[in-house]
Amino acid sequence: MKKLLPLACCMLLILVSSFTNETSAQTKPSLSNETPAQKIKRMQWWTDARFGMFIHWGLYALPARHEWVKNQERITNETYQKYFDEFNPDLFEPKKWAKEAKAAGMKYAVLTTKHHEGFCLFDSKYTDYKATKTAAKRDLVKEYVDAFRAEGIKIGFYYSLIDWHHPDFPIDKVHPQRPLTDSDTAYARLNKGRDMAKYRTYLYNQVTELLSNYGKIDILWLDFSYPEKYGKGKNDWNSVALIKQIRKLQPGIIVDNRLDLGDYADGEDFDTPEQVSPEELAKYKGKTWETCQTFSGSWGYYRDENSWKTHRQLLDLLISSTSNGGNLILNVGPTARGEFDYRANNALDSLSHWMHANNKSIYYCSFAPDTYQVPSNDKLTYNAAAKRLYVHLFEYPADGKLLLPGYKGKIKYAQFLHDNSELKMMEQGNDILLTLPEKKPVYEIPVVELTVN
Ligand code: GLC
Repeated sequence: MKKLLPLACCMLLILVSSFTNETSAQTKPSLSNETPAQKIKRMQWWTDARFGMFIHWGLYALPARHEWVKNQERITNETYQKYFDEFNPDLFEPKKWAKEAKAAGMKYAVLTTKHHEGFCLFDSKYTDYKATKTAAKRDLVKEYVDAFRAEGIKIGFYYSLIDWHHPDFPIDKVHPQRPLTDSDTAYARLNKGRDMAKYRTYLYNQVTELLSNYGKIDILWLDFSYPEKYGKGKNDWNSVALIKQIRKLQPGIIVDNRLDLGDYADGEDFDTPEQVSPEELAKYKGKTWETCQTFSGSWGYYRDENSWKTHRQLLDLLISSTSNGGNLILNVGPTARGEFDYRANNALDSLSHWMHANNKSIYYCSFAPDTYQVPSNDKLTYNAAAKRLYVHLFEYPADGKLLLPGYKGKIKYAQFLHDNSELKMMEQGNDILLTLPEKKPVYEIPVVELTVN
């Protein structure tokens, strides 16, 4: 008995601790009365859309060497001022941007109204550090909203919680003027006279402006929290009050997960895995998420960056997102003159070509039921309402034969998606063998559409 006692205690402890873990997950406090079903409905258009355009544009387009240049090179406001003085986007025509986004099949867009550098593309009444005070002399956010809305694209705003220009924003570990070595005294010295409460009001006021002055806003992408030591999180931003205000002003809006409100059942609408590989996306299956990705590594225009993703890599990201039940938001960093550069245009053109022919395997689709085995090297997506299964041919079969393992009795009809041309089916034991033309169609990743029983 004496021997068994410690064991029993141990088991009791394990039981109690697993019970409390479970209950704490279930009883996260809520900030609203929305039910899970209502949330799914609110987000339906976004889940159906699957594909959006991110646009990172600000003064950092002038140095053209990363949107974090101010941080990386520890640039002061005084030195950074030259980019404000020189900002003159004479080729800015958001109608062109919107047309390109639409052609590429992107259903929503998210523009940086203010990035970490603090410069506002919109006409905020709380600062002079804004586009209207530059040679552009106008509210560039308004023009973006009008242009994208006219193309039927949903409107999103990115707004940086961080601000490296505001005099009251306390210097922290990612600030350009951070100390060389972290210590309480170093930060205290640097932050003399800075007042986070004042910055918090500024932030609240600007978010209020953005959600009051531009009509219906579909998405708000707030960026970002780093609640570790010498960082900032929900108490700094007063995230609870902020999200309440956001939902009050725009009841239907969809908000990302970077406000540090993970302790609340409804503090975030979607996860934001950033620049992860297509393989890693499998981890998010079953959650609500959007992966954000760049063409070349940085978000802002970076002239000398040569690590541009290939057309195939971009398609892989798009297909892998859908096939794991998530969205892809792909970023363009326009130049300081206000256009997409030729590399971005090429990438978007190739996506347009593919999406024109194959978008049915993306929109309204998600991961396929487990009953369908994934043919080797391929990726599946599935439209449950239309009862269509899409096989993305990452490796085109050299002999023109595609084996669908265990598909006998499950498929009614097979065709190429891009031209609805029939693909002959043959039963082989438990499998189905499709006959494809030996010559691969012109699409980098052709798609087979299967009507399922
Ligand atoms: C990061 C970076 C930022 C970029 C964002 C997009 O948080 O700070 O530059 O805007 O990711 O996801």
